[in-house]
Amino acid sequence: MKRTRVKQALNAEAPVEGIMLKGWVRTKRESKGVVFLELNDGSCRTNLQIVVDPGVAGIDSLDGTGTGAAIKVTGNLQASPGKGQKWEVQAEQVELIGSADQESYPLQKKRHSDEFLRGIAHLRPRTNKYGAMNRIRSELSFAVHQYFRERGFYYIHTPIITGSDCEGAGDMFVVTALDPDKAWKSPAEFGRDFFGKKAHLTVSGQLPAESMACALGDVYTFGPTFRAENSNTSKHAAEFWMVEPEVAFADLQDIMEMAQGFVQALTGHVKKYCSQDLELFSRFVDQGLEDRLDSVLSQPFERISYTRALEVLQDCGRTFEYPVQWGLDLQTEHERFLCEEHFHKPLIVHDYPAGIKPFYMRVNDDSSTVAAMDVLLPRVGEIIGGSQREERLEVLDRRIQEAGLSFDEYWWYRDLRRFGSVPHAGFGLGFERLLMFITGVSNIRDVIPFPRTPNMLEF
Ligand code: 4AD
Ligand code: MG
Repeated sequence: MKRTRVKQALNAEAPVEGIMLKGWVRTKRESKGVVFLELNDGSCRTNLQIVVDPGVAGIDSLDGTGTGAAIKVTGNLQASPGKGQKWEVQAEQVELIGSADQESYPLQKKRHSDEFLRGIAHLRPRTNKYGAMNRIRSELSFAVHQYFRERGFYYIHTPIITGSDCEGAGDMFVVTALDPDKAWKSPAEFGRDFFGKKAHLTVSGQLPAESMACALGDVYTFGPTFRAENSNTSKHAAEFWMVEPEVAFADLQDIMEMAQGFVQALTGHVKKYCSQDLELFSRFVDQGLEDRLDSVLSQPFERISYTRALEVLQDCGRTFEYPVQWGLDLQTEHERFLCEEHFHKPLIVHDYPAGIKPFYMRVNDDSSTVAAMDVLLPRVGEIIGGSQREERLEVLDRRIQEAGLSFDEYWWYRDLRRFGSVPHAGFGLGFERLLMFITGVSNIRDVIPFPRTPNMLEF
């Protein structure tokens, strides 16, 4: 008999004679010899009730096990007399596939803290919240591809191991080949580098994406990126996924327009296709979630220059922990103030001081700012960073030198300015940050299945 998924069964239009399901038991209770199981198989948030009457084949196999166990059930789908559920399965046969020791199984019926669940990241997808999170994460990934595909973008793959530092910030993980003789003896004499060259894990796919955009036109990359920033915050991870579109013949205005449309499209997609899972978050995690999602969907984002943003911050009468001074970067507290308390809507800050931005951003006519933009969302702060790229070789060279970088390392990047250079622009969206915004979950460790942060390398 073909297996039916719980989601399918729950959506049935009529009773079904002969149905087979496999999944994990969420709860088990017994009343007068009848065993009631709540079965979940990951296909949706709702469990399906299984009724096992005394004498049903295999009922004894359930003795001494319950929550967490994997089972196979065959029976009939029929209308449930119970409240709040349309269907239940009257079992004709149950089979224990994998038992779970009730004494030591860590997931109980009660609600567990996020902290506790992080310690059992291998089991937490079996909870309602993390099941919902991972289904939304999957749907959102497909929505990214769908968005670009509908607009004629090519999906490109950029390298994970690289010799160039895109952001020029130096916060990279070094890649070293394992030398069998020296392995594990001492970290200092551990490796051989990348066949004699220095190599690290990519912090961004942007530079290779620029090369591809300057051939294919509109491209995007969507992959893992790595940052060795030892910052123990709720929104930084050492490994995170980034979506990076890169568009030839585009300028800063084009890319700001696109960033807004992209965030709106993805948010709208999840609202439409993940309503059941999203409801869990608006009910249990963040009561203001629906309003916040609407604030993204219902209006254009505010656009404001960095210089104007500083004026707002200086004139607002508020004292901040970090200084507000032209030439210094905006901190999370500033971003959140602007977004949540001043404008009360999503915000795009553009034209930042050249001194705080990477070498590749296009220098503006005032020569003190660059054509950069950050998209800030309520609660999360920066979700997107992007820019128009410097397409003029002589200006790029000056910026490379000012940043203390070497021409040798960027020879190929300079080539793109020597042969058929065009204005182009792009951005990077932090996929986990978007998930945090969409679900209202406040810690990045809870939107990625196996977070990589300074204290989390297990699993
Ligand atoms: O602003 P960032 O550093 O921009 C770039 O890397 C550009 N090269 C992207 C481009 O133009 N193609 O990073 C982009 C986004 C940030 O806005 C943030 O959402 C996310 O990536 N991000 C992080 N997310 C989680 N953990 C971290 N440590 C992150 N660092 C950046
Ligand atoms: Mg940034």
